[in-house]
Amino acid sequence: MVKVLVAYMSKTGNTRKVAEAMFEEIDGEKEIKPIDEVDTIEGYDVAFLGFPIHQEGPDKKAARLLEQHCTEGRKVVLFITHAAPGDNPELPPMLDKFRQAARGAEIVGFFDCQGQLDKSTKRIMSMLPSAKLRRWAREDNSAGQPDQARLDRARAFSRSVMERLHDIGREPQAASAGRNLKMEYFHASKYGNGARVAEEFKKQMAGRGIAVNVRHVREAKPREIPPADLYLFSSPGRMGKPIGDMSRFLKEARLPAGARCAILTTELAPQPDKSGRLPSEEELGKCQRMIPIMDQMVREKGLVNVARTRVFVTGLKGPPEEGWQEKVAAFAAQIAPSLSPSAEASPARPPVLTAA
Ligand SMILES: Cc1cc2nc3c(=O)[nH]c(=O)nc-3n(C[C@H](O)[C@H](O)[C@H](O)COP(=O)(O)O)c2cc1C
Repeated sequence: MVKVLVAYMSKTGNTRKVAEAMFEEIDGEKEIKPIDEVDTIEGYDVAFLGFPIHQEGPDKKAARLLEQHCTEGRKVVLFITHAAPGDNPELPPMLDKFRQAARGAEIVGFFDCQGQLDKSTKRIMSMLPSAKLRRWAREDNSAGQPDQARLDRARAFSRSVMERLHDIGREPQAASAGRNLKMEYFHASKYGNGARVAEEFKKQMAGRGIAVNVRHVREAKPREIPPADLYLFSSPGRMGKPIGDMSRFLKEARLPAGARCAILTTELAPQPDKSGRLPSEEELGKCQRMIPIMDQMVREKGLVNVARTRVFVTGLKGPPEEGWQEKVAAFAAQIAPSLSPSAEASPARPPVLTAA
């Protein structure tokens, strides 16, 4: 029997609502309380720890509590609420700060969703000197969050994490030790660029003893994805979004919460304007939204995204920009350690429950 703690920090009630929804789905021995009332998470098999984003990450107290509780040997599930919409490109680095603060423990699941920005904070933000905060207040669309759909997603996530934890308890120790590492790579290449990138990636990983099964999404059934140590999703862009085939595949994909994944996009290289100036990252992020959209889709499934990259192509139909093989090699090098038996996210531990 797994003993579970759900603990949360919540100023305006959003994170508490998510905590309660997750708590209801947990069977067996369980406790829920504000994190202020938690002395230690020792004695629990897993602790769900929830926080709001404050000023682009955990506030000082949240960071301190995460560092205090997330120590060697502890298993934690993080859940975060934020006013930024899920596909906001500014969000992933904010969420990464929570992972960083919790890195001493094994992060066995990660969930986030929007939570209403309270009115007084919004009013203050709209009057501050910072142009960024004023923009956030102006663009805020978080009213009414977390809504029923998000709370349902939190429940489904909690069930899925608990199912995995129960399964792991039943798995013989030897089952995962010493076996071959395996990746499932799904691409939606239209003009062959994504397919070339996939083959190069496969070659790079083969050199490291990691088998990569590459398939076009049209050749794969999203509801019958075989178990793997990591899933890679690669898409070309269409009008700044992932191509329809990939969006549909990701929407339908059935994968266990906590499974590791990575995202790669093949995007048109930034074009200079008449004066020869290239767009800034911020300008680019406004029109090229493939990575944030795919990021959000995998997060909504409770997957843990360990890496993301863009490979530029020189024209609408390609070819990939010079040096693309090096970029793919760097991406493979970034991913491989998270699969290595000696790494933190070790497959000798339950593979789908570890995080970057
Ligand atoms: C002081 C303060 C700072 C915040 N900073 C951010 C931020 O940087 N990014 C963001 O997406 N939301 C931000 N928010 C919004 C909260 O993260 C969001 O409303 C959250 O759901 C609140 O959770 P709670 O009701 O559990 O306190 C901030 C809220 C407050 C009060």
